[in-house]
Formats: sequence, structure tokens, C-alpha cells
Amino acid sequence: MLSESRFVRACRCQQTDATPVWFMRQAGRYMPEYRAIRGRVSMLDAIRSAELSCEITLQPINAFNLDTAIIFADILTPLIGMGINLDFIKGEGPQIENPIRSTADVDRLGTPSATEALPFALEAIRLTVAELNPRNIPLIGFSGAPFTLASYAIEGGGSKNYERTKGMMYAEPAAWKRLMDRIVTVLSDFLVQQVAAGASVLQIFDSWVGALSPYDFAKYVAPYTKQLIEAAKKTGVPVIYFGTGTGTLLDQIAPLGSDVVGVDWRIDLDKAWAQIGENQAIQGNLDPVLLFAPWHEVQIHADLILAQANGRPGHIFNLGHGILPGTPVETVQRLADYVHEKTARVEQAVL
Ligand code: CP3
Repeated sequence: MLSESRFVRACRCQQTDATPVWFMRQAGRYMPEYRAIRGRVSMLDAIRSAELSCEITLQPINAFNLDTAIIFADILTPLIGMGINLDFIKGEGPQIENPIRSTADVDRLGTPSATEALPFALEAIRLTVAELNPRNIPLIGFSGAPFTLASYAIEGGGSKNYERTKGMMYAEPAAWKRLMDRIVTVLSDFLVQQVAAGASVLQIFDSWVGALSPYDFAKYVAPYTKQLIEAAKKTGVPVIYFGTGTGTLLDQIAPLGSDVVGVDWRIDLDKAWAQIGENQAIQGNLDPVLLFAPWHEVQIHADLILAQANGRPGHIFNLGHGILPGTPVETVQRLADYVHEKTARVEQAVL
């Protein structure tokens, strides 16, 4: 039944009754309900509790008219099972105590199965799907992509220039390959297990891939990303590949074979779709900063995206990156409703 939901149909480029809408990071600090939970529980403890993860996943679904939920977790949690100690530091983001800097560090990494290392994440999916099924709302399971995840493991946190990550790529290609192989092994199993637990769609987040030149993407990254997408596609559910700053990489991203390509606002949706081609769906691409703007400005930009999508089946309305803390809740609600109303396709009256 969920394969007939508006969101899953759009992922497959099938006609829908209106354009589906969801927002990356739709569960998060801009919501008072989320802040209430985080006021008493740390980020990692919230993720490690299947019940809390389920509750947080449902918060935006209960508050707004969204066409899909995304399980509350983080792309970094699979690193913990591999032997990387990480924490989310208030105001600073993720920090890793023992980053991967040498071949010996790579060789120490484990490749535990998701059932061993991430049972809470799979249980959270089972609990959430039981709540969503009666409402006919699908659930997205997700992982990071090999490059973006490796960049956190190597840099030890967020980065501006990725010196150490690119450093390993260029100077220690054998270590880089082993690291990517291990990440692909862990993430492939995790994605497959998320579908077994009930996820209807998978999204692979490659947030920082736009930092790579086309040559380096082709040589050091794309083969591993392709392996992960292929493993995810074997489950039979649609796979979304999302990156930012990918305007110069789309000709290489399309052939990786995801069902949907997520793009950010730095490229026009129609130009991106022309590069991706007819057989793949597209997700995006409003600048999340626009949600702080007066409504008429949000509307102008939403209209532009919808005009570029031009009613073609296979557009999923989303932001070009995650919702930022402080975003006005009213604008999120109003935008979801606006896109649905504006794109509602009235059935032709049959005489
Ligand atoms: O989208 C959702 O609602 C599902 C949950 C989700 C989170 N992180 C929760 C989260 C998802 C899909 C992610 C993915 C993620 N995590 C990415 C890829 C998407 C992107 O935004 O680029 C990345 C790069 C991360 C790593 C990460 N996690 C960073 C850089 C940070 C700190 C920045 C920040 O926003 O605080 C996190 C923490 C994080 N992950 C929060 C949430 C709700 C905030 C934690 C808090 O409550 O303080």
C-alpha cells in the first residue's frame, strides 16, 4: 500500500495527485517539542532510545502536512560501532576523539553488522513504521555516503577544506581504499537492514561531496558511492542520493543509478534535471535560509521551483539542505500547505 503513497510514487517518476513535500532535518531544534526532549536527554541518548527516536520522528508528522517521515538518527552513528568515539558537543557539532589518520587506524576499524551495532536504530524503525502505516505515510531510512562519512572520521568533525581527507586520498591511496571498503560494507548492511525493519525509501547523504573536483570524484569516490547505491537498490525500495554543491558533478552522479537525485539551490532545478535526464526523479531545492524571509519572498522562490519542475512527474519538493535552528515553525507549515495546494491536480470530470 505504501508503494502507492504520493512520495514513493514520485520517487519512481509516477504521476501523483500533488507534489510531495518533506524537509531534510524536519525533526530538530526549530521545533519546541524537540527542544523539550533534548533539554533532558543528550543527542546520543535520544538516538540510542528506540522509543525517543520514534517519538521525535513523529513530531513533524503530527505538526505539519508532510508526505514522508525520516527516521530520527544521525549519519555518524554507524561510526561508533566501527570503533570511533564520537559525541555531539552543544554549539560545536560532532566531535571525534580518535580520528582516523593512518593506515594502522584504518586497520583497527571493525565492520560489525547493523543488528550487532545499531539494534536501537532498527527497533526505532519498527516502532515508527507501526505508527505510520495506518496513516499511509512512508518512512525514509538513511545513511551517509562514503566520502562524507570518511571526511568526519578523518577530520574528527566538520571541516572547511578537507585537508586531511584529501591528504589520505592522495598520499595513502591504499589506506583510503581500505577505509572506503569498510565504510561501504557497514553502510550497505545498515541500509538493507533498515528496509527489512520497514523503511519504504532510502536516502544517502553526501552533504560535502561538492568539495571534490570532477577528477577526484571519479577516481577516489564515485566507485564506492556506486557500490553503496547498488546495494541499497537491491532491496527494491527507491534510493535518493543527495549532495550539496554538486552542479559540476551531476553528469557523474546520474549514472550512479539512484532513483532520485537531491540537489541544492546553487543550481536551477530545471538545469539540474536536464543534466540528470528523464528517467530519474529530482528532490529539492529551496535555500533553507529563505524560511527566515517574509512569506511573499518564500512564495516567489517556491513558485520558481515549481515552474521549473513544470508539473513533470518525479519532483519531490524539499529544501536544498537541512532546516536550520531558529526557523519559524509557521513558515514550515505554510510552505508545505502551499506546495500541496498549488500543485493539486484536479481530476478531469468524466461525463
Ligand atoms: O532529517 C531528519 O529529521 C532526520 C535526522 C537527521 C539528523 N542528522 C539529526 C540531527 C539526519 C538525516 C541527519 C543527517 C546528518 N547528520 C548529516 C547529513 C545531512 C546534512 O545536514 O548535511 C550530517 C552532515 C550530519 C552530521 C551532524 N549531525 C552535524 C554536522 C550535526 C551538528 C550540526 C547541528 O545541526 O547541530 C549533527 C547533529 C544533529 N543531527 C542534530 C539533529 C537534529 C542537532 C543535534 C541537537 O539536538 O543539538
